[in-house]
Amino acid sequence: MQHRQLGKTGPSVSALGLGCMGMSGMYGPAERPESIATIHAALEAGITLLDTGDFYGMGHNEMLIGEALQGRNRDQALISVKFGALRDPAGNWLGYDARPKAIKSFLAYTLQRLRVDHIDIYRPARLDPDVPIEDTIEAIADMVKAGYVRHIGLSEVGAETIHRAASVHPICDLQIEYSLISRGIEDSILPVCRELGIGITAYGVLSRGLISGHWSKDKAGPGDFRAHSPRFQEGNVERNLGLVEALKGVADRKGVSVAQIAIAWVAAQGEDIVPLVGARRRDRLAEALGVLNVRLTEEDLAAIERAVPKGAAAGDRYAAPQMSMLDSERS
Ligand SMILES: NC(=O)c1ccc[n+]([C@@H]2O[C@H](COP(=O)([O-])OP(=O)(O)OC[C@H]3O[C@@H](n4cnc5c(N)ncnc54)[C@H](OP(=O)(O)O)[C@@H]3O)[C@@H](O)[C@H]2O)c1
Repeated sequence: MQHRQLGKTGPSVSALGLGCMGMSGMYGPAERPESIATIHAALEAGITLLDTGDFYGMGHNEMLIGEALQGRNRDQALISVKFGALRDPAGNWLGYDARPKAIKSFLAYTLQRLRVDHIDIYRPARLDPDVPIEDTIEAIADMVKAGYVRHIGLSEVGAETIHRAASVHPICDLQIEYSLISRGIEDSILPVCRELGIGITAYGVLSRGLISGHWSKDKAGPGDFRAHSPRFQEGNVERNLGLVEALKGVADRKGVSVAQIAIAWVAAQGEDIVPLVGARRRDRLAEALGVLNVRLTEEDLAAIERAVPKGAAAGDRYAAPQMSMLDSERS
């Protein structure tokens, strides 16, 4: 396994991380035994970074990871946890809470569900508009001092918030969507992270499967985030799948799969970027791991750029109500 340093203050992690969200309902039903087998296969392949959120399946994802880690060396895994998204028993989204007291309470429950005594990277899933980021980071810093958290990360915040957060405590990484068709971070967010020595854990590197080469129109079933995501909607999806077709031409010439070329492109954007792959099955994980053997040349990168030029995708990366919660889209 290759490794990358997560920011100037963070841990060294595997060059690919495993995002476990899809194992808890976000993309429709997932098979529990297969999910656990996928986590085990990732650990056995040398993946150390496991990403979750306390709201993925309202605790389901953390309990799944906790179960998968039983009987294993807990320190083999670096567990990254997002908190703050509020959901009701039916799974509806209620907003965000990043108040200091709430954070400490969320963390207490997370440690129980994961069956661990510390979290490696703890981060607010979104900026809580009612709480200054300094207060949120200070509360996590208290938990670092108390030994319950090792490192502090951020998620989907913009340049100003990153600066303010980093003035309180070292930030190891920003988790944010970054892919061939979501390049918004390149203008100001990525430069600020580089200036401050903050790494990037990139999610949605396959744009939720849209640019994986395995997606076809009308595939999303009920309960699947993609059924409501603008890029998957009639009128947009056709154009976006056209980009995938162009990318397939480049992948075929290189002798790799579309998913591999899309993930390799993200990894090639800098040693400070760690792609999170959202595999929930072992076959998808194996495909993603193949990226570790893919080296993109300048000509490959130019061909990819011609196939999928910046800004070519149709539709926003989230529906309007979720877009409005993204601090990262404001600065
Ligand atoms: N910070 C944030 O706001 C935020 C937001 C979203 C996600 N995340 C984190 O980032 C992780 C990754 O995000 P994501 O799952 O949306 O992104 P993704 O990797 O772009 O999409 C994953 C989906 O792509 C499909 N896929 C097809 N081929 C694949 C392959 N070879 N390897 C992996 N997936 C393949 C799978 O769908 P099928 O299984 O249906 O084929 C899979 O569920 C999440 O698990 C979560 O931990 C963070």
